[in-house]
Amino acid sequence: MIILGFIGYGSMGSMLIDAFLRSGNIKPGEIIVSSRTKSKLDILKEKWIDIHTADSNSEVAQKAKYVFVCVKPLEVTGVLEEIRDSVSSDTNIISIAGAVKIAYIEKLTGAKVTKLIPSLTSEVMEGISLVCHGKTVSREESDYIEMLLNSISKVKLIREEEFDLATELTSCMPGFIASIFEEMVESAFRHTDSLSRTDIEEMVLRTLYGTSRLFIEKNMGFSEMIDRVATKGGITEEGVKALRKGLPDVFDKMFDNTLFKRKLINEKIEQNQVMK
Ligand SMILES: NC(=O)c1ccc[n+]([C@@H]2O[C@H](COP(=O)([O-])OP(=O)(O)OC[C@H]3O[C@@H](n4cnc5c(N)ncnc54)[C@H](OP(=O)(O)O)[C@@H]3O)[C@@H](O)[C@H]2O)c1
Repeated sequence: MIILGFIGYGSMGSMLIDAFLRSGNIKPGEIIVSSRTKSKLDILKEKWIDIHTADSNSEVAQKAKYVFVCVKPLEVTGVLEEIRDSVSSDTNIISIAGAVKIAYIEKLTGAKVTKLIPSLTSEVMEGISLVCHGKTVSREESDYIEMLLNSISKVKLIREEEFDLATELTSCMPGFIASIFEEMVESAFRHTDSLSRTDIEEMVLRTLYGTSRLFIEKNMGFSEMIDRVATKGGITEEGVKALRKGLPDVFDKMFDNTLFKRKLINEKIEQNQVMK
């Protein structure tokens, strides 16, 4: 029996399908997928032979109880208009486009709606999935969706108006972390005559991994970590001082820029929805 449907087999759609299947909570035969470029689905079929591929988005909407809409925000309205006659009031649309409001999808389709912001970190079954259920989603349905997502991440239930900043802190964060440590590696490389970039990257990344585990598994707080490593008058303390001086401005600027850009995108999506 088909349970999960996916519209859009791009970066996020493929990541979610793969992670759900690896979690063991869903079988390939219980999934149906459609995407604009049909040839991309051949690769999926090769990997999971029993997975269903559909000729149209409407077929997915008709056959699946839970329909993940994994297309770019500006493409969401087109997809919803296409599937609106194929969904029933029992269908649960799960939209991963942060800028598209739950009420808009409910109004356009008459379906139940959940908003989800996944993170690339679910590729290794880690990280946070941000979730907000619309009012018509039942307890049984929300429990099922959260069970699936908890098997590939940790579910964090938030209010819809909290999505903007929360998305920066979860879904965007791997990109921010990568650029922070990329700069750190480059700076270290400028300060050595003998270590290679590869050596430096290995040292930084393995230490980052170990530090993350100390935070999560030993429940160590930021200040405890600093206290344990930076002895008074020592070398680490000098580095921490420099970071504390320079980083607040960097991060304020980063959030100012990302939240402003998000506001512009949200406005563009809303204008586009009014025009439709
Ligand atoms: N990337 C992230 O880390 C991330 C994290 C959280 C949320 N999101 C959200 O996830 C959504 C998808 O992002 P993405 O990075 O996965 O984008 P993506 O890689 O471009 O994937 C979108 C997929 O949707 C397909 N598509 C486009 N229009 C379609 C239509 N009318 N019918 C069926 N399929 C259609 C595209 O087909 P083609 O192959 O023909 O282009 C593509 O395969 C966006 O709303 C984004 O904001 C992304």
